Amino acid sequence: MNCPRATLLNDLTLSRITAGMWRLMDWNMSDQELLGYIDACLALGVTSFDHADIYGDYGVEDAFGKALRIRPSLRAEIELVTKVGIALVSPARPEHRLKHYNTGPAHIRHTVERSLRSFNTDYLDLLLIHRPDPLMRFDEVAAEVEKLKQAGKIKAFGVSNFTPAQFQAVHSFTPLATNQIELSPFHTSPLTDGTLDQLQSIGAPPMIWSALGGGRLFTEGDSAAARIRATASQIAERHGVSVPTIIYAWLLQLPSSPIVITGSRRLGGLRDAVSATALQLERQDWFALLEAATGIEVA
Ligand SMILES: NC(=O)c1ccc[n+]([C@@H]2O[C@H](COP(=O)([O-])OP(=O)(O)OC[C@H]3O[C@@H](n4cnc5c(N)ncnc54)[C@H](OP(=O)(O)O)[C@@H]3O)[C@@H](O)[C@H]2O)c1
Repeated sequence: MNCPRATLLNDLTLSRITAGMWRLMDWNMSDQELLGYIDACLALGVTSFDHADIYGDYGVEDAFGKALRIRPSLRAEIELVTKVGIALVSPARPEHRLKHYNTGPAHIRHTVERSLRSFNTDYLDLLLIHRPDPLMRFDEVAAEVEKLKQAGKIKAFGVSNFTPAQFQAVHSFTPLATNQIELSPFHTSPLTDGTLDQLQSIGAPPMIWSALGGGRLFTEGDSAAARIRATASQIAERHGVSVPTIIYAWLLQLPSSPIVITGSRRLGGLRDAVSATALQLERQDWFALLEAATGIEVA
């Protein structure tokens, strides 16, 4: 089993399955166990890791960096994606009085410097603005991104959770490699609101978060979850694969060529995702899952 790669901008490639680190602090792994997890990801061809400065109450990047310090040569084998722009109220940031967004150039610069120190590296493969900020000055952000690129501190830049209009507005100032968005059978609006159409037309693969609804697929008893599980199970049985593999395949088949971010601590969860990269769903099965997701047949 080997995960294929996706091409974003210039020379930037990520693995089509990217390991999400949001929940890392809940996994209670020692540095050595995390190193083992990273090695197991690499063995599957999953070389990209998704972070944000705020994950784990500003602790995840440090924790990941501790594992990298054990074997610094790992840095050359992986891609680090991280985000900036949300400011949490946290003991780690006593200067924050309330949760807010900050996409000011100084905040971007300082956050990148901090992320580089945490990861024990001198470059980030991809930096994303975490959420659209009503006070975001596109010209200032673009100028700061250019400086960071010139200094070799970031290789590529993108956004997350932006509407198509917001994406286009920033993209006209500085090229965006991706829009990292929520998409799953529980959250289907990007299929119809122009988000994926825009990314397909400019050749920027979306990155997808909470592909399994943040675990809702398995834990919730509501009618949508029950419908999605039942339909996915029938398709999964025919293909001899797991239900999550069918959901991942449903997403990976989209013509915008998404990169899917996993959230599982279990290597089995990652294998489910990597298996999906080799699976093609029949068109009618794809639409059966859409119907299960929305509860209505297409018009
Ligand atoms: N840009 C953004 O705004 C944003 C927002 C949220 C997340 N993200 C990124 O996206 C990544 C993935 O998001 P997510 O964690 O919500 O993804 P997800 O895959 O939808 O949810 C992961 C959760 O589902 C559970 N799960 C997975 N497979 C399961 C199974 N077969 N049976 C039971 N439970 C299962 C996992 O538990 P186990 O660990 O036990 O498998 C975990 O708790 C994050 O790590 C982060 O990098 C980005």
